[in-house]
Amino acid sequence: MKLVAATGNQHKLREMREIFPDFEILSAAEAGFFEDVEETENTFLGNARLKARAVMRATGLISLADDSGLAVDALLGEPGVYSARYSSMFAPEEWLRAHMPLCEGKDALNRAFLLERLKGKTDRSAHFCCAIVLCFPDGRELTAEGRTFGHILTEERGTNGFGYDPLFFSDDLQKSFGEAGEAEKNAVSHRGRALAALREQL
Ligand code: IMP
Repeated sequence: MKLVAATGNQHKLREMREIFPDFEILSAAEAGFFEDVEETENTFLGNARLKARAVMRATGLISLADDSGLAVDALLGEPGVYSARYSSMFAPEEWLRAHMPLCEGKDALNRAFLLERLKGKTDRSAHFCCAIVLCFPDGRELTAEGRTFGHILTEERGTNGFGYDPLFFSDDLQKSFGEAGEAEKNAVSHRGRALAALREQL
């Protein structure tokens, strides 16, 4: 089956290709889709549906979109659907000005802000969530969700993966996602589990 992944995130693409080795997965750009779909919904599933439908309509191909993020219990589910934009949306101007020169890129800034928000909190439990929508040109849709549990470390461990991986200590792996190999992470990750659930339905 040939499908388009509604993402430009190379890490996500690699994970999807590893989990679905028997599918031909094109990136959105490879299928000629260059728009940035605005994530205006307040659920992972809602945002995944927006992206999958937009790509399916534009390309006419079966489209696979994921929306994912981190939910920290002590922060009542933050950063949630704002995981990718956490510091830019919620950090005070002053904090951003002071930390921008110290952090390389958006992900590092988000991790630093998460550590800041968790200062003094003893409960550091958290989980990653992933919602997947597969959209067919005839209007059929399949959806699946996956979660993976752990806690937020007090400092980064490992440099693998992306986003919050170096701060997320996985209950399943007993190490951080930043220390895990790709296959190891995929076997227990929120995205791995959501894609496996989707595979069952297919
Ligand atoms: P999305 O691209 O809108 O789904 O945003 C997902 C954001 O959640 C990413 O930018 C990361 O900050 C975070 N995230 C999602 N999945 C992972 C993961 O597997 N590891 C680390 N961070 C993740």
